[in-house]
Amino acid sequence: MTHRITLIPGDGIGPEVTSAVVHILESAGLKAEWDSHLAGVLALEQHGKTLPQELLDSITRNTVALKGPITTPVGGGFTSVNVGLRKALNLFANLRPVWSIPSVPSRYEGIDLVIVRENTEDLYSGLEHEVVPGVVESLKIITEVASTRVARFAFDYARRNGRKRVTAVHKANIMKLGDGLFLSSVRKVAESYPDIVCDDRIVDAACMHLVMHPTQFDVLLMPNLYGDIVSDLCAGLVGGLGIVPAANIGVSAAVFEAVHGSAPDIAGKGLANPTALLLSAILMLRHLGEHDIADRIMRAVHAVLSDGTVRTRDLGGTASTIEYTDAIVRRLDA
Ligand code: NAI
Repeated sequence: MTHRITLIPGDGIGPEVTSAVVHILESAGLKAEWDSHLAGVLALEQHGKTLPQELLDSITRNTVALKGPITTPVGGGFTSVNVGLRKALNLFANLRPVWSIPSVPSRYEGIDLVIVRENTEDLYSGLEHEVVPGVVESLKIITEVASTRVARFAFDYARRNGRKRVTAVHKANIMKLGDGLFLSSVRKVAESYPDIVCDDRIVDAACMHLVMHPTQFDVLLMPNLYGDIVSDLCAGLVGGLGIVPAANIGVSAAVFEAVHGSAPDIAGKGLANPTALLLSAILMLRHLGEHDIADRIMRAVHAVLSDGTVRTRDLGGTASTIEYTDAIVRRLDA
């Protein structure tokens, strides 16, 4: 079957890593029509908007998008395209699998956990005001609807992917109402999933346990702010942001992206490592039901990285983006 997929190459190293990933996907046998769209500063120049309506329509129509990184100006200019996409398409769940990859330098081996982060509320609702000069109030919004929705997503994901346990991460001992509502919503959803163990950890203790014994965790489910922080902490456990995938998933659309940025310092030099976006594309393949292609690509990535002779500079090698991409393609049938 041919899939129609919205492609957002992005800017900086975005076009280099997306074209590498598309090449690997097609070499592995994915049949796809790519509906390519600009976003961010390039879209602003051509269409007068950072998030053109045609792009949103394309994702709504195709229901799946693969997205390269997009530059966000610091301290001014336009607001983040990534946040705009999440809001416009109501991508309520952020999925961040954290896998140890053979031979990638890191402190631990055998980590295989998944973070599910609520993506729409909490302290990121953007509701802040100055009460009087020198006093600012930032509102942390937790609703039963959003907590229940993301909890269902986490338990469904666990069941579909053979996971055994969902751990809710919270601070309900202090924020008894807000985080208390999150926790009680998760526990209520858990009643419908007797095959999955549900437990919980207070966020500070969870961070300590993650750093000391990360392999004990399976699926971690948390509100927006803790999810943002803990998912980067976990990326650090397996070698950094350059090798972790991510997806933002809603009821009717899903956007798969790398979590690193547009790397302006190496853009256009052919040095970018496409692994993070490739792993995100593997999540996309599984979302599309293309498990065989996903498995083949994953085996090829492991083979090339384990072999160690072809690596990009960020992983201590000398290979260009194209040399690394070709090495993966050569290993697809090995
Ligand atoms: P960055 O992730 O772009 O770069 C940090 C460092 O990591 C740089 O030295 C860069 O060369 C290196 N790096 C990143 N990705 C790499 C890759 N695939 N291969 C090899 N090296 C890589 O973070 P930075 O510099 O803070 O952000 C640059 C721009 O990207 C900013 O405008 C930021 O807002 C944007 N950004 C966009 C994201 C997205 O679209 N999802 C996420 C994070 C940042």
